[in-house]
Amino acid sequence: MKRAFWKEAVVYQIYPRSFMDSNGDGIGDLRGIISKLDYLKELGVDVIWLSPVFKSPNDDNGYDISDYRNIMDEFGTMADWEEMLQGIHERGMKLIMDLVVNHSSDEHAWFMESRSSKDSPYRDYYMWRPGGPEGQEPNNWVSFFGGSAWQYDEATGEYFLHLFSKKQPDLNWENPVLRQEVYHMMTFWLDKGIDGFRMDVINCISKTPGLPSVGGDRYAWGGEHFMNGPKIHDYLQEMNREVLSKYDIMTVGEMPGATVEQAKDYTGKDRGELNMVFQFEHMDVDSGPYGKWDLRPWTLKGLRDILHKWQVGLAEDGWNSLYLNNHDQPRMVSRFGDTGAYHKQSAKMLATLLHTLKGTPYIYQGEELGMTNVKFPSIDDYRDIETLNMYREHRYEHGRSEEEVMASIYAKGRDNARTPMQWDASPNGGFTTGTPWLASNPDYDRINAEQATADSDSIFHYYKRLIQLRKKHDIMVYGSYELILPDDDRIYVYTRELNGERWLIILNFFGEPAEFILPDELAHASRELIISNYDDIEAPADIRQFTLRPYEARVYSLTK
Ligand code: NOJ
Repeated sequence: MKRAFWKEAVVYQIYPRSFMDSNGDGIGDLRGIISKLDYLKELGVDVIWLSPVFKSPNDDNGYDISDYRNIMDEFGTMADWEEMLQGIHERGMKLIMDLVVNHSSDEHAWFMESRSSKDSPYRDYYMWRPGGPEGQEPNNWVSFFGGSAWQYDEATGEYFLHLFSKKQPDLNWENPVLRQEVYHMMTFWLDKGIDGFRMDVINCISKTPGLPSVGGDRYAWGGEHFMNGPKIHDYLQEMNREVLSKYDIMTVGEMPGATVEQAKDYTGKDRGELNMVFQFEHMDVDSGPYGKWDLRPWTLKGLRDILHKWQVGLAEDGWNSLYLNNHDQPRMVSRFGDTGAYHKQSAKMLATLLHTLKGTPYIYQGEELGMTNVKFPSIDDYRDIETLNMYREHRYEHGRSEEEVMASIYAKGRDNARTPMQWDASPNGGFTTGTPWLASNPDYDRINAEQATADSDSIFHYYKRLIQLRKKHDIMVYGSYELILPDDDRIYVYTRELNGERWLIILNFFGEPAEFILPDELAHASRELIISNYDDIEAPADIRQFTLRPYEARVYSLTK
């Protein structure tokens, strides 16, 4: 397999609003990030993915961009951004920026022009349609954030499409002039020296011509008509030809609903599209038929089957991104680990998984501290538009009880991941001297960076070790993957192999001891322990059969 920096990298995602506030206004900012670059360098990450920092009215915290070439006032200035980029590069790290071009803000100059008249040269930058015979929406699609995906606009008497909030109108990729605008904007940032893009819902930019309704209901999920649409590969190949191929950069496409087969088409080596995708299949292991808020317990088998399928599916061609949380997902230790007695062990076990599967690991800010989900007492404490819309719809339209709706929010709400980064035990975890835009998780007195960097046994130091191991051992990046014990319902066991070297990874996913027996072939190898989340491991007397302690993780190098 061909070497590439983006295969060897460990990426760290910064959600700027919640990372570090330098001026006491309660909102994280670029100077705050600059002040923490040494922390990230110490952790050892190679690439920083920065969620959007462009001008925005913040209907969706920056994922609604009103000016793609300027910095949001709350976050600072272009000069701050340039200093930040320089600081990142000086420390030998790279920066990838969020590219949000499925939609813009309705406050973008393009949209204001577009909505002003049917004859505006900007009209076709967006997706306008007349209403149906009774004045109803042009089709029955619902938006990702609930409710119709169409908004009626008085000025010209037509509807515009918005797959997200009504302040996020969808851009019309059918229009070649719009596509050129996007490519010029990408070139603007690449010429400033950035190292790549994370592309927001990029598999949604091509819609089925005619925008047909789906099924017979008044409102329905129209994903089949906008996810992986008919021209998506043409657009990405064009973008690659005109922009991406001219730079040595990394690209990752966020792709809800993408299958392994589709991911191969997006990331295959001869495709001329992207380096890797964020797939979502494993993020649905605890969702019922009605979607993410419809809570179901996850099982190890469910999670492993999906991860395994992606490992095998992209083994020869394409590349995986490895993540268990980000700014849209609950905290991984709350979801798949333990926040009580085994907080540390379980966070380290999950980290071992993410850094020893084949692919590029993504760390979401605070994950390296084991930050947890939050339970605010009232819906008034929440800020996320998706959460607030869902609360309204489920409480008042579907009549679900307060307890039930809050239980869904506690388990899945996006604000779980957006509470301020916990730097120390001072008020608000040291994130701000003012009032944070979203309250801090009260556990900052125990879980914070100051404590974690001082404690050599912390989750933070374990991440550091995993990242260093990856830099030393090609097998972690390029080694092939093989699943062992496919039916065990408590432990996930696999091997990696490269040039005659073989590693064995054993992970107990639960809070009880797990005994198991290895296949003969592995039992006869002698082993050297590479890393474990318990520090008192002796060479097992029986190398065929052993018992793992709660959430125990071990990585061995095997010799025949
Ligand atoms: C995916 C982003 O990760 C999410 O935060 C955002 O709300 C939507 N795309 C819309 O941009």
